[in-house]
Amino acid sequence: MTTDGLLATHTYRTGRTGQVPLVLLHGFPLDHRMWDDVVDLLPGDGTVLAPDLPGFGASPSGEDVADALGASAEPSLDTVADAVAATVRAAGVERAVVAGLSMGGYVGMALVERHPELVAGLGLLDTKSTADDDAARANRLRIALAVLTDGEVDAVLGMRRSLLGETSRVLRPDLVERLELWIRSQGPAGVAWSQRAMAGRPDRTEVLARFAGPAFVLVGAEDEVTPLAAARHLEAALVAAAELVVVPRSGHMTSIENPEPVAAALAALLLRVDPS
Ligand code: MLT
Repeated sequence: MTTDGLLATHTYRTGRTGQVPLVLLHGFPLDHRMWDDVVDLLPGDGTVLAPDLPGFGASPSGEDVADALGASAEPSLDTVADAVAATVRAAGVERAVVAGLSMGGYVGMALVERHPELVAGLGLLDTKSTADDDAARANRLRIALAVLTDGEVDAVLGMRRSLLGETSRVLRPDLVERLELWIRSQGPAGVAWSQRAMAGRPDRTEVLARFAGPAFVLVGAEDEVTPLAAARHLEAALVAAAELVVVPRSGHMTSIENPEPVAAALAALLLRVDPS
């Protein structure tokens, strides 16, 4: 784990080849560890970086990150994207394949909008480009308040099951336990800040229409959080350059429920990106 940049970043590999680095962005309310199984299966020896997003894992709070960037104090995924860009640039990376799962996907799309020169290829996993409706936004603000009032993350603990597909819920109690451990290790302030940031995110469908690089969209066949329809919407927005991968026996957490197809999609995307 390095802390030289703005965000604490796990360097899974430091590349020895000319391969474009891979930057992996985690989902909510988790940290970089949700990529461990995928990176274990990833062929090649290119650089792989996974920052902990503000308020998660070993990273500073959203407030501190916004302060360091001179950004608005209002929680925002724009701040998260700017922090990721500053962090990977501090690691010497000017161009990368960026892949994000769910909240990580929202951040990936914000990166495409705000730092297009950084994104050589894009992987969108179990995510969506649309904004929240009023009910979803109100629910996020309710959860943000609850975790801050409780001083605990209990209000999001149900996600240890709802993030998983039916197959994992029935056959993989180890994954429920793993998610519980990861969720319990996050702080309520980070959970609240991110919920507020996600509540304010805009629809970024049009941003994808302008993205010219290679991309894939991936979704668990049993994803109940951002289901297949959301993935098809992304695929249509990306037009020519996108591939759609549907991962069997998996819900929203494809990276831990069925990491092989995720690693394969990332490896294929890395090969499609011009290394120069
Ligand atoms: C995630 O997995 O990152 C969350 O489900 C994203 C969200 O709450 O929209």
